[in-house]
Amino acid sequence: KILVVDFGGQYARMIARRIRDLGVYAEVVTNDFEISKFAKEDVIGIIFSGGPASTIAEDAPMIDPEIFKIEKPILGICYGMQLIAKFLPGGGVKPSDKKEFGRAQLELLDKDDKLFSVLDYFTVDNKLSVWMSHGDSVVELPTGFKKLASTENTPIAAFGSSELSIYGVQFHPEVEHTTGGKELLKRFVFAICDAEKNWTLEEIVDEKVAEIRNLVQEDSNVVLGLSGGVDSSVAAALIDKAIGSRLHCIFVDHGLLRYKESEQVQKYFSENFSINLHAVDAVDRFLEELKGVTDPEEKRKIIGHEFIKVFEDKAIEIDGVTHLAQGTIYSDVIESGDSKNSVTIKSHHNVGGLPDEMELKLLEPLRDLFKDEVREIGSLLGLPDELVWRQPFPGPGLGIRIIGDITAEKLDILRKADYIFREELSKSDVADKVWQSFAVLPDIKSVGVMGDERTYGYPIILRAVSSIDAMTADWVRIPGETLDLISRRIVNEVEKVNRVAYDITSKPPATIEWE
Ligand code: XMP
Repeated sequence: KILVVDFGGQYARMIARRIRDLGVYAEVVTNDFEISKFAKEDVIGIIFSGGPASTIAEDAPMIDPEIFKIEKPILGICYGMQLIAKFLPGGGVKPSDKKEFGRAQLELLDKDDKLFSVLDYFTVDNKLSVWMSHGDSVVELPTGFKKLASTENTPIAAFGSSELSIYGVQFHPEVEHTTGGKELLKRFVFAICDAEKNWTLEEIVDEKVAEIRNLVQEDSNVVLGLSGGVDSSVAAALIDKAIGSRLHCIFVDHGLLRYKESEQVQKYFSENFSINLHAVDAVDRFLEELKGVTDPEEKRKIIGHEFIKVFEDKAIEIDGVTHLAQGTIYSDVIESGDSKNSVTIKSHHNVGGLPDEMELKLLEPLRDLFKDEVREIGSLLGLPDELVWRQPFPGPGLGIRIIGDITAEKLDILRKADYIFREELSKSDVADKVWQSFAVLPDIKSVGVMGDERTYGYPIILRAVSSIDAMTADWVRIPGETLDLISRRIVNEVEKVNRVAYDITSKPPATIEWE
């Protein structure tokens, strides 16, 4: 595998993604990873990512200098290149007089170099368009290194030592804007690290299946909380392939799911898999706990807590359970700052209240996969598109889409309106722009007139947003005719609703959800 050392920002993840696209496994590690550990593992090359810091700053993220002694090929990108210059004898870094941000013209100085020869192919007038973003520059070459490329503002824009197999580039080969960037990474991975192409999703599935069979003994069982979301569904399908009916999926119906969702998930998984599906109807239990609760955070706490209790009550009834499976994916791992620990299995002491004798091991087969890889694996395993491409849905479900207290009646109203909205929206021209779409039921009533009668009913608020990562979002410009159709259907088909509004606020300043 290739290790990508993360020095901050989103760069490392993007580099790892690019390498995996080349068919080679890449893993992101933080800069304080244990180098000695990797001498034992089959690391064939290391990439230092870019990062927002300056290597000259006192608190700059560093790396253990031992890394230069293990004789593995290294490619430093941007900050990573400067780090090489800082650590190796002779090298030097300084703040540049002219900072470089955005596009720059790179001139190749040594077209015969093992890493750079390939870029020759892309040059126009001997220059290559690359993407730069840096304030410091390498000003002195480490001993034995050659200058390989320069730009107008950065005389040493790339350097390398073919003897040591250590290279540095000031530009970002991982971004689309760098011409030939992908080829450069390819060259590093295959020509310099001698990698083999073996990261295909079919092979990953086979490997994971073998791994799960190996970890879970013949006579032991696994429990998994199935929500019907992408990650837990793909995890279920994968573990099903490995151990079939020894996988026990617990589906907690808390009554806060969307229209027919509970039935659909249960039907789909019981018809298409050999897993044991334990559906728990906890609707009344949740409604009782949530009675009169209006504070959003209080609702979240109650729902989360109750969910674990219901899950555990069921899990205890199942014999011979040794593992608790979870649909944790790579972004969860990186975001929790846990990427050092990217093993598939670790000891886990209880979910919360399971008795001690049930100390379970955590089984997380998707832990090293990116979301799009998880989706592709889901498709490979035969999961339908509706499931694999499902919108994100919050754990507390409709509980945080009913403003104020939650009742069975309100849930019924919201479910129907929400279904009509999503159904019509999916048929419209803007369907592919939607990241999340749902209806909200506020805690007010308003006056209306239907036929000859005055009504006093609920309004429904529609929300549809486009987004990339839910951090920011914009409201979707739904055509007026579509909104009109949706509005008419909702007031006609959903009792007690006499008004429909569309939320036209972006995030920030609003959030995606209303609570
Ligand atoms: P906001 O409303 O903060 O939502 O813009 C961002 C994303 O997070 C989802 N969300 C949640 N997901 N539990 C979850 O599992 C929650 O309590 C929760 N609150 C918000 C939201 O649906 C959106 O995708």
